[in-house]
Amino acid sequence: MNRLTDKTALITGAARGLGAQIAECFIAEGANVIINDINITAAQATAERLGGQALACDVSDSASVARMFEELFELTDWLDILVNNAGISGIEGDNTAHERIRRAAQAMADGAPAELDSGITEVTDDQWRRLLGVHMDGTFYCSRSAAGLMKRAGGGNIINMGSIMGTFGRGGGTAYCAAKAGILGFTRALAHELAPHDIRVNAIAPGWIHTDMTDPLAPMHPMLEAQTPLGRMGEPIDIAWAAVYLASDEAKFVTGQTLSPNGGWYMSQ
Ligand SMILES: NC(=O)c1ccc[n+]([C@@H]2O[C@H](COP(=O)([O-])OP(=O)(O)OC[C@H]3O[C@@H](n4cnc5c(N)ncnc54)[C@H](O)[C@@H]3O)[C@@H](O)[C@H]2O)c1
Repeated sequence: MNRLTDKTALITGAARGLGAQIAECFIAEGANVIINDINITAAQATAERLGGQALACDVSDSASVARMFEELFELTDWLDILVNNAGISGIEGDNTAHERIRRAAQAMADGAPAELDSGITEVTDDQWRRLLGVHMDGTFYCSRSAAGLMKRAGGGNIINMGSIMGTFGRGGGTAYCAAKAGILGFTRALAHELAPHDIRVNAIAPGWIHTDMTDPLAPMHPMLEAQTPLGRMGEPIDIAWAAVYLASDEAKFVTGQTLSPNGGWYMSQ
């Protein structure tokens, strides 16, 4: 309790899922939380439920991010913590995805190689750009604006949402994996750059977590649980505690690191 008293945090993509759970834990730890989402109605509902404030923007749009940071100053004088959490899987709105996933799950259960998504020859320019736009451009635009504020304030904390897919990789998910790998590299470079300003930059690389994003993968859940040494998929709270730790003074000697709560599905280093 009280690990984040009087801290102001902006969490992107926080209307639901991991972002909403991080917001809830930050508020419980005493933080003033601003909930960003591309879906402002959902962000407002979450902010009302948790006791935070809501700001709309599409993080992949530079002008939209700049406007959000202007609006931020109507809510608060400073920013201590930025969590770059907004993300997409790439199959949103793809009506054929469920059937492909069901077939892939069956193939994997039968021991055959299978793809989570359509392979690289079928990835369109728009799909590639959208994945990298939301994850990588969004992380860059928000970090750039936040870093300016934090430098002037003499300190701060940035947490970027990576994934085990940023190091493990997965066929059928080249754009998602490239984006998440990029975020991990970006995290290390920015941590070096901002350390002299007492701004820590770290990443979280979740394993398979139950959220709306992974709901369409339900046919694969039993297999993923079986592959996970701890025997289950994660819950959003498993990720939120990692965010609380990285945001708190308990992690004051931690920067440039990737913390990966994943139940042992992927073991690194
Ligand atoms: N769930 C998992 O298993 C898992 C695993 C590893 C990494 N992640 C990452 O964690 C983050 C959160 O994932 P989740 O499972 O909570 O997903 P989710 O789909 O439940 O929530 C994502 C939120 O981001 C918002 N969003 C999407 N595009 C946006 C944009 N352009 N601008 C602002 N907001 C936007 C959505 O509206 C939604 O509220 C993502 O970056 C995701 O890639 C999730």
